[in-house]
Amino acid sequence: MLEKLRPQPEDKIIALSGMFRADERPGKVDLGVGVYKDAEGRTPIFRAIKAAEGRVHRRQDTKAYTTLAGDPAFADAMIRLILGERPGGAAAIATPGGTGAVHAALELARSANPDLTLRLPAPTWPNHPAIARHLGIKAREYRYFDGGTVDMDGMLEDIAKARPGDVVLLHGCCHNPTGANPAREDWPRIARAVRRAGATAMVDLAYQGFGDGLEEDALFTRMLAAELPELLIAASCSKNFGIYRERTGVLIALSGDPGLTQANMASLNRLNFSFPPDWGARLVTEVLDDEALRADWQAELEGMREGMLGLRRALADALRARTNSDRFDFVAGHRGMFSRLGLTPEQVRRLREEHAIYMIGDSRMNVAGLNARTVDTLAEAVAKVL
Ligand code: LMR
Repeated sequence: MLEKLRPQPEDKIIALSGMFRADERPGKVDLGVGVYKDAEGRTPIFRAIKAAEGRVHRRQDTKAYTTLAGDPAFADAMIRLILGERPGGAAAIATPGGTGAVHAALELARSANPDLTLRLPAPTWPNHPAIARHLGIKAREYRYFDGGTVDMDGMLEDIAKARPGDVVLLHGCCHNPTGANPAREDWPRIARAVRRAGATAMVDLAYQGFGDGLEEDALFTRMLAAELPELLIAASCSKNFGIYRERTGVLIALSGDPGLTQANMASLNRLNFSFPPDWGARLVTEVLDDEALRADWQAELEGMREGMLGLRRALADALRARTNSDRFDFVAGHRGMFSRLGLTPEQVRRLREEHAIYMIGDSRMNVAGLNARTVDTLAEAVAKVL
């Protein structure tokens, strides 16, 4: 029977990581998968997470199941982190990472409307359309990115084409893969377009704290929560708590009937894997609920964010100097881990093969993969392949 299985399309981000590992050239530069790296190329464990691990380890006296929704204290802490307070209509489940939250959000929406169309920004994280396809959900793109910035008119026009019962996916901050985000004055226009269409907005929030700051990065989501009758929020703790492999995420739903929504969400966990992973969630709760740990975590996260901003400015300068043009200046204005440089697949291939610099084929680069030295290595190589 299993011989009837069909080969699966490769995820280009995961495939690139494999290619990078297999490359034996010294000095190779990984700008692929969205994992934070410090100047020495390490992905550190946050000090506050290390401390929380010790505390939770000493205190924990059972590994018995939690609830299907996960530890309620985790849901509460995450709702407050993202929304600033706990609104009356909030339901939440812990999920295996942000991917698990996206998956659960789409399953929940499909339970409510099997005929929905998922509206995705063009481009978006490749796993968004892949998960939709896997779940048998139709997907359509809306215009988003145009020559380094957000195509706001195109975006609003296309969102207006959504039908009642459709889901419009929005990146809460730090758009992946482009790094280009809607201007603050445009946020209410986006909310209005979704509301007028009668669609449900779904926020993917995987990089809170990596863009303009922990609070600032949540403001778009909070505005949507205030303006829309319902909202789905799929959030990841992988990057901003640095606990990638612990698989820690949360799905939050704001709706008119939180009890019914909560029961449906808990049931999805039961059907998919029963109880969500708990260790990472407990560490996050420990950090968020302890004043000193939280302050230390925030300071370390802020240091990473500022480091990435510095790398963006240095790269924009280096590219300007090496290419004698301002075509890459947008890199300094983008936010988050990623920017899409606007190179052709052929140029990206040459960067990889001739210069051992790895970025996704659409020329998405992970800014955190750079350091003071490799900024110029990259700029020089880009100038060579142009
Ligand atoms: C990325 O876009 O590189 C990250 O979100 C990691 C992933 O799982 O793809």
